[in-house]
Amino acid sequence: MVKAVVLGAAGGIGQPLSLLLKLNPDVTELGLYDIVNAPGVAADLAHIATPAKVEGYLKDDDGLQKVLTGADVVVIPAGIPRKPGMSRDDLFKTNAGIVRDLATGIATTAPNASVLVISNPVNSTVPIVAEVFKKHGVFDPKRIFGVTTLDVVRASTFVSEILGDRSLATSIAVPVVGGHSGVTIVPLLSQSSHPLPPGFGGSDLEALVKHIQFGGDEVVKAKGTGSATLSMAYAGAEFANKVILALKGKKGIVAPTFVHLAADKAGGEALKKEIGTDLEYFSAPVELGPNGVEKIGGIGKITGAEKALIAAALPDLKVNIDKGVSFIEAPK
Ligand code: NAI
Repeated sequence: MVKAVVLGAAGGIGQPLSLLLKLNPDVTELGLYDIVNAPGVAADLAHIATPAKVEGYLKDDDGLQKVLTGADVVVIPAGIPRKPGMSRDDLFKTNAGIVRDLATGIATTAPNASVLVISNPVNSTVPIVAEVFKKHGVFDPKRIFGVTTLDVVRASTFVSEILGDRSLATSIAVPVVGGHSGVTIVPLLSQSSHPLPPGFGGSDLEALVKHIQFGGDEVVKAKGTGSATLSMAYAGAEFANKVILALKGKKGIVAPTFVHLAADKAGGEALKKEIGTDLEYFSAPVELGPNGVEKIGGIGKITGAEKALIAAALPDLKVNIDKGVSFIEAPK
């Protein structure tokens, strides 16, 4: 029995993400919550012939508390998306408060659920959730995840295009580490499961890295009214489905995700040493288990150029993380 909940379920990401979760036969209950339209989305999805029972709630009548009761996995795509010219950090003013309030609901009603944060800026909203949980005395770093899967999905797609074989896209795995915005997105292309063609390097490699780091901007520009929703729903469901499989006991599932490094003390400390930082959060390949984070993996052997990308990511990451932490200021 797995209850999955989507907060922000009526939105551009929320609706297709809820559809994809409804298609997961392991999900037996799907709870949808939004400040608008969630009951309608739920009524629509409820007619799909898969096991999950679907219910939708609005803010009135304790909707948040009702939807979160018994939740195992909570995915948060609530909040405003970027418009052309905006950075993810520009969303902080609005989304920080939304994520804080939703995290408060989770901390009080479903403190043992795994929380998957999609709302941007992820580098700040994940620390916000953690600080809210600390305030309520229910912080477990193993269960809070920043969803960076879209960066991984983009890397797989773009590498398959360079290899001239899109049929490889689903099997290509490229670890993407760091964070989830601009230069904090660090694809480790030297570790691609399918190596780039011999001689691929220099400005071609730089362009590929930029394509992955700023792929989101391409979508924002092309749409003019919002950011990636369908590819994000795909990526969000892919990550949520992995968390659910691990929850059910499947071993050996590894995925990059932005986590608090105390989630695995030994792994987290080793990673800090490896990249030369005292940051508390970083996106790294994480092994998932029944309690959330099982093991935080290291970076491994990387090129000089990749080391430089990580070094360039750290200052921005620090600013983003500090901003999220100080928004809540949980007592230490
Ligand atoms: P959207 O505007 O289409 O949907 C957001 C939904 O959140 C709306 O239905 C809105 O009613 C709802 N909402 C607002 N305040 C709420 C609250 N207090 N409680 C519950 N629901 C609330 O936006 P979209 O395109 O779905 O994007 C959502 C978020 O996901 C944005 O912050 C965006 O930047 C982020 N995003 C993250 C990505 C990632 O890789 N992690 C990729 C793309 C977008």
